[in-house]
Amino acid sequence: MRYTLDRHAKEDPRVLAVYIDAKRRYAEMGRYQHNFQPVKYSVLIPGVLLHDIGFSAPEFKREGHDVVGARIAREILLNLGFDEPTCAAVCHCIRSHKGKAELPETIEAKIVYDADVLEKAGTVALINDGKILCEFGETLEKFIRRDIEDRKREIARGFFTAKAREMDGGRLEKLLALLLEVQEETGRTRPDFAASEEDLWTDKSAPPSP
Ligand SMILES: [Fe+2]
Ligand SMILES: [Fe+2]
Repeated sequence: MRYTLDRHAKEDPRVLAVYIDAKRRYAEMGRYQHNFQPVKYSVLIPGVLLHDIGFSAPEFKREGHDVVGARIAREILLNLGFDEPTCAAVCHCIRSHKGKAELPETIEAKIVYDADVLEKAGTVALINDGKILCEFGETLEKFIRRDIEDRKREIARGFFTAKAREMDGGRLEKLLALLLEVQEETGRTRPDFAASEEDLWTDKSAPPSP
């Protein structure tokens, strides 16, 4: 889209004038759905690749992997020669991908946030949850409680892009319902879990041997 516009603008400068004028008018009226925000892939791709890099440092438990991740990413990107505005834009994607330290404001940050939430939608996310649970060695109760809080917050906030809303199609709500079911079940007394080896081999109805 951008390259096509560049080419047409070169061939006919009036095309560029129309673009600039229309963009200003839409922006003045807050008509963002008219899509005058081209995605910067030089920001989006590092943002996607590094959004969870905070998990590689132990401080994530205290500070949050979003905040720590942005710090680590800045170091990586500056070392690789990325300029300051690009670093800041990528760090914003990382800091806002949980919607906690800050909320996504740019189109790249909104895409990273939505993609991260979408990954947790649907029944298959329960299997991923199991893997994460093993990785962090948390108790099931604690993990489920946090997961439920996060999903409720994400559902209440909604997606930032129409495409993500369409791709979700209610699956995030479906996952929340499953998590609530798991929580309810883990809170219940399970006689089958309490059974011991002794229960299996001892016939309690038999009279005691003399
Ligand atoms: Fe994350
Ligand atoms: Fe993630």
